[in-house]
Amino acid sequence: MSLATVTPEVAVVSDSAATPAAPVLLEVTGLSARYGKVAALTGATLKLRAGQIVTVIGPNGAGKSTLLNAMMGALPAGAAASGRISFQGGDVSQMDVEERVARGLSLVPEKRELFTTMSVEDNLLLGAYKRRRNGESGYLDQQDFVYALFPRLKERRRQAAGTLSGGERQMLAVGRALMAKPQVLMLDEPSLGLAPLVTKEILGIVSQLRSTGVTTLLVEQNARAALQIADYAYVLEMGEIACEGPAATLAADPRIVESYLGVARH
Ligand SMILES: Nc1ncnc2c1ncn2[C@@H]1O[C@H](COP(=O)(O)OP(=O)(O)OP(=O)(O)O)[C@@H](O)[C@H]1O
Ligand SMILES: [Mg+2]
Repeated sequence: MSLATVTPEVAVVSDSAATPAAPVLLEVTGLSARYGKVAALTGATLKLRAGQIVTVIGPNGAGKSTLLNAMMGALPAGAAASGRISFQGGDVSQMDVEERVARGLSLVPEKRELFTTMSVEDNLLLGAYKRRRNGESGYLDQQDFVYALFPRLKERRRQAAGTLSGGERQMLAVGRALMAKPQVLMLDEPSLGLAPLVTKEILGIVSQLRSTGVTTLLVEQNARAALQIADYAYVLEMGEIACEGPAATLAADPRIVESYLGVARH
């Protein structure tokens, strides 16, 4: 059995060709979350190694969005979370969203929450709100970085966000998250509602981001595409991490193939 079972310490990331011994940048330990009486996440434990793409796959309702929102401190009112989220050695689990953003975490939520009547550029600038308020000038470099990554956003920078295509809106949502210059970018189903070619383009850009040093936690309904670009993967089922391993190992595992990659076991 090639699949790593969930143990507190699974030392398998050396299998990754991308960054063999990358240090752990973020570590989630025993993270649980509930909406009132409904337990949505139970004791999730995972690691993000610097510069890697880590994906979380799993069926609808497994708790993937809950995991990302809990990591970001962005659960809806009435929800409760417990557990430890260690980022660069410090526990951020009690911090509010703004503080986590300032520390270097950024989330593109399932609902993109763009301001449709505002221009593309103004939407981007909102992502750098705190840096601008603090009088930092580096956000302009970050804007150049985003425009280099998404030339189409630059072409359309004066256009209202509401006039963009679905794919362009997704690019804008990712671009806005990047304006905060995150070290860890969390993406909740970036391909949702997009045509296959556009999905390919977006995930290609996520791959490109890895080479700039951004660490990505990718939740994706398109498990096949996610496993193709990821270094490491976790499978979430009914609020619990059911298995984990290098993405290539999971992609070749018959149980994963059967359950998530849409191919029957031979
Ligand atoms: N605001 C909420 N109030 C009550 N229950 C919720 C809320 N949000 C999610 N849940 C429940 O928590 C569980 C996990 O939901 P979550 O949205 O995290 O799953 P998911 O894996 O992201 O699903 P999907 O693939 O459909 O996006 C589900 O049972 C869901 O019904
Ligand atoms: Mg979700």
